[in-house]
Amino acid sequence: MMDSIIVIKSEFSNLINDAENIEILEEVRIAALGKKGRITSLMKNLGQIEPEERKLMGQNLNILKQDITSLLETKKVELETASLNARLLQERVDTTLPSRPEELGTIHPISQTTDELISIFGEMGFSVAEGPNIEEDWYNFTALNIPVDHPARQEHDTFYINAEKDGQRMVLRTHTSPVQIRTMQKHEPPIRIIVPGRTYRCDHDATHSPMFHQIEGLVIDEATHMGHLKGCLIEMCRTFFGIENLPVRFRPSYFPFTEPSAEVDIGCSFGDGILKIGEGDDWLEILGSGMVNPRVLENCGVDSQKFQGFAFGMGVERMAMLKYGIPDLRTFYDSDMRWLKHYGFQPLDIPSLVGRASL
Ligand code: PHE
Repeated sequence: MMDSIIVIKSEFSNLINDAENIEILEEVRIAALGKKGRITSLMKNLGQIEPEERKLMGQNLNILKQDITSLLETKKVELETASLNARLLQERVDTTLPSRPEELGTIHPISQTTDELISIFGEMGFSVAEGPNIEEDWYNFTALNIPVDHPARQEHDTFYINAEKDGQRMVLRTHTSPVQIRTMQKHEPPIRIIVPGRTYRCDHDATHSPMFHQIEGLVIDEATHMGHLKGCLIEMCRTFFGIENLPVRFRPSYFPFTEPSAEVDIGCSFGDGILKIGEGDDWLEILGSGMVNPRVLENCGVDSQKFQGFAFGMGVERMAMLKYGIPDLRTFYDSDMRWLKHYGFQPLDIPSLVGRASL
């Protein structure tokens, strides 16, 4: 019996030693110590041997079991370490591989055009102001001299919102002009601001989108007159389009919040269905403007005897379409990668337009 214990020990030691991986080692463990394993069976059969021999045999079997268990454990750790090392070696990062090319986005024409206009007006001493997109009726209409029954309200195709604030019906602002009011309430003249931002009208076709962008301008001072309005806007048009002698025309118009009001046209030709800016006998309307109506000043608590000024507002998409030859307004919001790649601009390449035309 003792002989067989020695044989078993040497057999299993060899098997453990030769095990090439965890799976084989597990098979060896089961063969020795599993439910039907050799050592387990010997232990089960202890009852059948002579009592004198049984004690010694039991002790020896226990020692055998401990020895095999400890050999199995040592081998297991060894195999695990080896397989981890092999994996680490295989999965090693090759830092000499070239990096994947980075996909660079482009600047959307609306952002580009807004930045260009901000740069032009910034150079003229304007700062940027902003206001809420969800606006009180009073700021969007009433304070701008558009009372409740005024026909201009119908023209604005307003999105109304179910909310009210201080008894005021809320609207999605139909233009950036409410920021004129907010600015005059907050700041004493002199004021010289532009307001880039989103505006909303319930309208949708090739030249109208329910959401679009405007840039508003407001100048208030003691001696600001129509000549300043004209000079400022002529300069802006010529610099923006990069055409030094671009013809600019001021055509009488009407806005409730300016008096007198003028729409601004630039010279162009439409020959053969192709629009050319800066040449020919045709005119293209690009923005609305006028001297701030004294009623609007009074609505904001500005002394209209002492202060006067001008305001203007233009559509950013329209300016972008004209300058960059983009034919359909709806494509601005499609997020079509091909369109964005074609009409978009390189980041960090916002041209400083200042100095291109006669500033
Ligand atoms: N708010 C006008 C519009 O959206 C534009 C405008 C602004 C006209 C300021 C005159 C002065 O059409």
